Amino acid sequence: MIKKENIKLQTPKGMRDLIGEEYYRYQGFFEKASEVAIYYGFQPIETPILESESLFYHSIGAHTDIIEKELYALRTKGGDRLALRPEGTVPIMRAYFEHGLQSQPQPIMLYYHGPFFRHDNPQKGRYREFRQFGLEVMGSGKSITDALVIRLVSTILTEAGLPDLAIEINSIGDRDCRPIWRRELVNYYRKHAKDICADCRERLKDNPLRLLDCKNPKCQPIKAEAPSVISYLCVPCKQHFKEVLECLEAMKITYTINNNLVRGLDYYSRTVFEVSLPATDTEPGLALAGGGRYDYLARALGGKKPLPAVGAAIGADRVLATPGVANLLPRLVKKPKVFFIQLGSEAKMRSLSVIEILRHARIPVAHSLSKDSLSTQLGIAEKTNIPYAMILGQKEVIDGTVIVRDMRTRSQDVVTLDDLADYLKSLKG
Ligand code: HAM
Repeated sequence: MIKKENIKLQTPKGMRDLIGEEYYRYQGFFEKASEVAIYYGFQPIETPILESESLFYHSIGAHTDIIEKELYALRTKGGDRLALRPEGTVPIMRAYFEHGLQSQPQPIMLYYHGPFFRHDNPQKGRYREFRQFGLEVMGSGKSITDALVIRLVSTILTEAGLPDLAIEINSIGDRDCRPIWRRELVNYYRKHAKDICADCRERLKDNPLRLLDCKNPKCQPIKAEAPSVISYLCVPCKQHFKEVLECLEAMKITYTINNNLVRGLDYYSRTVFEVSLPATDTEPGLALAGGGRYDYLARALGGKKPLPAVGAAIGADRVLATPGVANLLPRLVKKPKVFFIQLGSEAKMRSLSVIEILRHARIPVAHSLSKDSLSTQLGIAEKTNIPYAMILGQKEVIDGTVIVRDMRTRSQDVVTLDDLADYLKSLKG
């Protein structure tokens, strides 16, 4: 039994409410990103916030931070083991199979947005609940699809007012060449085991590719001399990587090759990329978006045939916290330009019908229906800075009219209910 004294009126750590202008900024960003995706032929998808816990283990990787430390896993009262989704790619691949999308013309191109959950230590740009906009192209191994995804991420960030972010890109090879590079990396790091940090000693055992992610100054000289993936890529992987880079160049997308970029999820093969804010003297670089190819994920989830795929996700919270980001307001939100005031019981009863007439005419109204006095309602109207007030009193109910008052000039007009919508539309906002 949870005691009433223990109720805390605050969001859980690392999570927050979106309210007021901030809500609209998120909505505006997702609308703009969705619009870009739709123009490029993507279709929307929404998957549940909860998935079966087992889905993530053999896909994201049992020895990744996301699974080892950050997964919100729970047992339901019915005994099911579920997890709050830490990312979107694996659930979408699950949906691809569940809905038999392999029988449709390939590739399947989907976009999504929503909240994701990782139980990390909250800090700047790192939350326990965060929001992503993601893109997945499933059913093609062609380099043009890698370029398409990178292009879209770049376009969306440009539309969000962040045009000059550098894209780092790498190829981490496939199942033929990556094991050879991995073995060399392990051999090399074993020789330096006593000189690396404790975290890297763990990574050496469980997830050696992540050794290249280490930011500890102690490990940097060792990392600098580590075997580079580029020397181990097989001919098809080299060719694929070359083609992706050529596509980016043809589109004039600036990139930097970073052979230490490996990403934090196990499902990647070949192309990986990240778009980051540059590091400053005081702050480390922050990834605004990341993605890559995941040609073996379908097999890891039990798929019978290979399903090459590529995708990316943009961290909306980080984008919207970036200085200089555009204020993308949603299209659907209309700020009311008229405040509805009612006087007397007849008018109060009629008021919802009047609001309904205006809804049909797509005119949103603000109001304070629970208040009775004219001065109180006018006072509220003034505080809201809404330019017009619309007054419905006893007389107006009988006449089938309303008084429309310009709150700035105080001039008034009597308008019939039949003409009201057109009259309000003609007013300047
Ligand atoms: P990810 O790199 O883990 O990739 O996340 C993508 C983006 O989400 C990051 O670049 C970052 O902006 C944002 N993000 C991640 N964790 C947090 C957090 N704790 N707080 C705030 N923002 C965060 C994926 O999730 C892959 N599913 C992307 C992908 C799609 N790969 C292929 N398809």
